[in-house]
Amino acid sequence: PITPVILSGGAGTRLWPMSRAERPKQLMALTAAQTMLQLTALRTGDAARFARPVVVASRAHADMVEQQLEQVGIRPALLILEPAGRDTAPAIALAALAAADPETPLLVMPSDHVIDDLPAFHAAIARALPYVADRWLVTFGIAADAPETGYGYIAVGDALGDGVHRVARFVEKPDRAGAEAMLAAGGHAWNGGIFLLRADAYLDALAAHAPDILAAARTAMARGERAGDRIYPNGEAFMASPARSIDYAVMEQADRIAVVPVAMGWSDVGCWDALHAMTPHDGDGNAVGGDVLAIDTRNCLLRSDGPTIAAIGVSDLIVVASGNHVLVLPRGRSQDVKRIVAALNATR
Ligand code: GDD
Ligand code: MG
Repeated sequence: PITPVILSGGAGTRLWPMSRAERPKQLMALTAAQTMLQLTALRTGDAARFARPVVVASRAHADMVEQQLEQVGIRPALLILEPAGRDTAPAIALAALAAADPETPLLVMPSDHVIDDLPAFHAAIARALPYVADRWLVTFGIAADAPETGYGYIAVGDALGDGVHRVARFVEKPDRAGAEAMLAAGGHAWNGGIFLLRADAYLDALAAHAPDILAAARTAMARGERAGDRIYPNGEAFMASPARSIDYAVMEQADRIAVVPVAMGWSDVGCWDALHAMTPHDGDGNAVGGDVLAIDTRNCLLRSDGPTIAAIGVSDLIVVASGNHVLVLPRGRSQDVKRIVAALNATR
């Protein structure tokens, strides 16, 4: 069976102030009663298709991760606990090195997405599997409908088979002009950030294109400690890895990359604008959460986990109150929230 690998180590800084280092986005309930991590794990809950998941997360969140999974009846096969994040390429390397059988297909999933159409997701996985067995590294392509700069872009190449295409070119997070050009040219999909690959094929790609990441992950696992289901990779060895994502380290570099285009109601809950777009609105186009009073207010996202937000006579604003923090910005600027986090980290 396929082994799900859930990546739960990101900081989700664009969802500040609700997403913070102590409780990042994937451990929050943003779109449903369940947290993003719980929703992710439940997508591969079907034991006929999937083995128990391997979760790669930060040590600081180990207990929270375990409790959240237990709440939805899922016991991970392994919890691989990083001392701190070095981005996704090394995180996936740890999971690949831990695989008992190197030919096991790993379904690498970010823990910060929404997928509405589960049968479509499972069907796309089934289409990809024969190619994965043939050592292709497969990603899933999402129809691109705006020049977003926060995604990877895939130039969809020749068909390899039923619904599976060679990736002609992979461009991670282009600038605005590049994104607009690819959108206008057509034939490009967004990278969904979900990968299906054999552990050995991924490790070979790292050996070819990012040997420094592979070496650090190998040493970290070899010198790591195990306690029950928990693996603690050696901290010093792991932190010697460059911090790089799979997209830059492998997908942009390797040859045998394939894409399965799929319409599955995917969305990346990457920023407040995305959350506004995907949550139900009141009659005035407002998406509200928590204690909110909105009068004569239109097309706003108003969300609080404590204080009352009262708004009057405004439109197209995002206001988020959490703990001691209040964020205010116009809609359309929420990709920039990470700049606030950087500025706050620099000054206090
Ligand atoms: N364990 C671990 N360690 N997980 C991590 C780390 C890490 O150091 N860094 C990130 N993650 C997790 C995040 O929690 C998230 O679930 C997932 O890996 C992806 O990381 P992001 O930081 O959210 O990536 P991104 O959104 O900027 O870009 C990726 O996803 C896009 C689609 O949402 C790329 O794959 C893009 O190409 C893609 O379009
Ligand atoms: Mg993301």
